[in-house]
Amino acid sequence: MWWFVAPKIVFGDDALESLEDLGYKRVLIVTDEILHTLGYVDEVLKYLKAENVEIFDQVEPEPSLETTKKAVEVAREFQPDCIIAIGGGSVMDVAKATRILYEIDIDPEQVTPFVNLREFGYQKKAELITIPTTSGTGSETTWAMVITDVKRRQKLLMANREAVPDMAVVDARFVVRMPPSITASSGMDALCHAIEAYISPWGNEFTEPLALKAAETVLANIAKSFEGEEEARKKMHVAATIAGLAFSNSQVGVIHAMGHSFGAVFKIPHGIAVGLFLPYVLEYYLNSDESIGKVRELSRKLGFDDGRGLIAEVVNLMDSIKLPTKAMELINEKEFQENLDILVRHAMEDSSTVTSPRIPDEAEYRKLFECAFYGRRVDF
Ligand SMILES: [Fe+2]
Repeated sequence: MWWFVAPKIVFGDDALESLEDLGYKRVLIVTDEILHTLGYVDEVLKYLKAENVEIFDQVEPEPSLETTKKAVEVAREFQPDCIIAIGGGSVMDVAKATRILYEIDIDPEQVTPFVNLREFGYQKKAELITIPTTSGTGSETTWAMVITDVKRRQKLLMANREAVPDMAVVDARFVVRMPPSITASSGMDALCHAIEAYISPWGNEFTEPLALKAAETVLANIAKSFEGEEEARKKMHVAATIAGLAFSNSQVGVIHAMGHSFGAVFKIPHGIAVGLFLPYVLEYYLNSDESIGKVRELSRKLGFDDGRGLIAEVVNLMDSIKLPTKAMELINEKEFQENLDILVRHAMEDSSTVTSPRIPDEAEYRKLFECAFYGRRVDF
């Protein structure tokens, strides 16, 4: 049995106007301070006809459980019938967690795909609308949340189908002026979602065409989007959501396992961290009969003779949008060697490892990190 879980999606020019007809009475907006200051909340409020609006703008990058609990307190006090997330992945993740914890007393660690939240009394008192302001995380469509437990220094990966937003408003007005560096890193995240979703052993009839469409669109538009071309940015914004639908329903693999580990240890933004490992992991997959098939199939569908052609194109694109293709461009050798054991352990423990078409053992993970640090070919 397979599920395909997705929100309603409004997209294209003027998508934000869809908020005019929704009829919610008490809306809690979850965002961050910078977006609030930049007027993004005001832009949404122009269309929102709610009687009462409360704004929680304290979400930080890599959001903490403490911040989430503050948002939950605000929600319990205010009793919204709708929560609207305006922001990137961090904001949307906090909003998803807030919606669940607002209503039921549950330990966040218990929010897993295997628990029936309705048995805890969950009735969905508030609907959740996500409005992404970057083009990459796909969080507007997914039912997972990454929240950091600062006290215990670990990331909580909360996930449950009930967390999927009710509606995603994919309106490119928020990304046409995005800084080029964010366009590059978030776009690379979307490309990793699309590629990993396609080659995942959990890929299926619903996710494959979405993953392919997203990969095609990102490859054709990421450089133009980086240069600031408006039409390309609009296409990237939709492609990121399509990639989100694909990976949310078929999972990601070793690229994300290594990216999560590397990003957490060295505080590297997610899109940069996952993009860095993309060429190396694809090469690793091409070296084994168990994983070569889907990579070849995807490459051919994208117009390359074989997987190596796709890797070469990805590396060219990364150069052109000024993203690092070796970890030594980001950290020094001493730092890398001192943390290599932790990097390997975290990647092995990452849930994305098990949904990968080829699963590295400890020695292979170590070599993969070394190849990506020094820029070496992966020959195993
Ligand atoms: Fe990602």
